[in-house]
Amino acid sequence: MNIRSAASSGRDEGRPSRQINIVLRNHETPAVSGTSAISESASPKSNAQIGLFQEIGGELDALVGLDNIKELVFEIYALLQVAQMRSEAGLASGGQAYHMVFKGNPGTGKTTVARIVAKLFQRMGVLTKGHLIEVERADLVGEYIGHTAQKTRDLVKKALGGILFIDEAYSLARGGDKDFGKEAIDTLVKSMEDHRSQFVLILAGYSSEIDYFLMSNPGLPSRFPIQVEFPDYTIDQLLQIAELMAKERDYILMPQAILKLKQHLLQEKDESPHAFSNARYVRNAIEKAVRSQAVRLLNQYEHNSPGKQELMTLRTEDFKL
Ligand SMILES: Nc1ncnc2c1ncn2[C@@H]1O[C@H](COP(=O)(O)OP(=O)(O)OP(=O)(O)O)[C@@H](O)[C@H]1O
Ligand SMILES: [Mg+2]
Repeated sequence: MNIRSAASSGRDEGRPSRQINIVLRNHETPAVSGTSAISESASPKSNAQIGLFQEIGGELDALVGLDNIKELVFEIYALLQVAQMRSEAGLASGGQAYHMVFKGNPGTGKTTVARIVAKLFQRMGVLTKGHLIEVERADLVGEYIGHTAQKTRDLVKKALGGILFIDEAYSLARGGDKDFGKEAIDTLVKSMEDHRSQFVLILAGYSSEIDYFLMSNPGLPSRFPIQVEFPDYTIDQLLQIAELMAKERDYILMPQAILKLKQHLLQEKDESPHAFSNARYVRNAIEKAVRSQAVRLLNQYEHNSPGKQELMTLRTEDFKL
């Protein structure tokens, strides 16, 4: 079982990128009534809500690169704001579907962005709960006829008011017509009709495989109007991510350590371009270096504390790559 509820990690370090500007409006709007978990019109925004959206913009800005995704989130934000203004002006506002496809290699930030999007939808009143249920094939597919449909329906139920994120979605279509994966797909398509506007479905996986998956059911492509590419990070971006991750943990990377990491990343990316896990690889490298540094410090300073500076410093020898 692989269901994880979202808890977005807050970041407070901004990076120069597309800034999301909050337009403060000087009049309150009527509350949206109804029981639907998703409403096109966002609820009136208090200062607290605006503050929370600023927090989301900050979280997004703290991510290295991903400019196309930052643009997309801003687009969604703008759309929701304008939908609200349109509904106040008595204009039609609605019908927009938010189901998405995230295409990209491992560790390119798909789950991280899905969590931020979930939060955005919740803050903007699009989703009532804004939680993220992250699942993969094994969570949806059962062992006998009927079991899969039940499992899938149960997960959709759990995701109502939030986001259902299906990782490696293409694996559902892998086995062809006889596979229970097909039953899961059919159930999902039906749920998207039955619970229209009550949850957002995000499919994630490698580009080519996701394209194959979308072709497996004629009802699928048109149901996912938002398709986003998560490109592999460049070496410079990976190093920026490394420094960011170190900083978040109160560590500093020595220049020589950065150089060593750079050489290693160049080699890894070159040797296994398809299996390379981008930012996740970097995170693992940093976490491993933190463990090595702890052992080194204990050996070096048997009877006293190394001092704050030394406790913070990751040296070349800590990167046993
Ligand atoms: N642009 C970024 N800036 C900073 N940190 C990032 C960025 N992208 C990813 N990370 C970090 O890298 C790690 C992996 O990211 P994430 O889990 O979102 O990747 P993923 O695309 O979902 O991977 P997978 O396909 O393997 O599930 C996380 O710790 C995340 O915080
Ligand atoms: Mg993921």
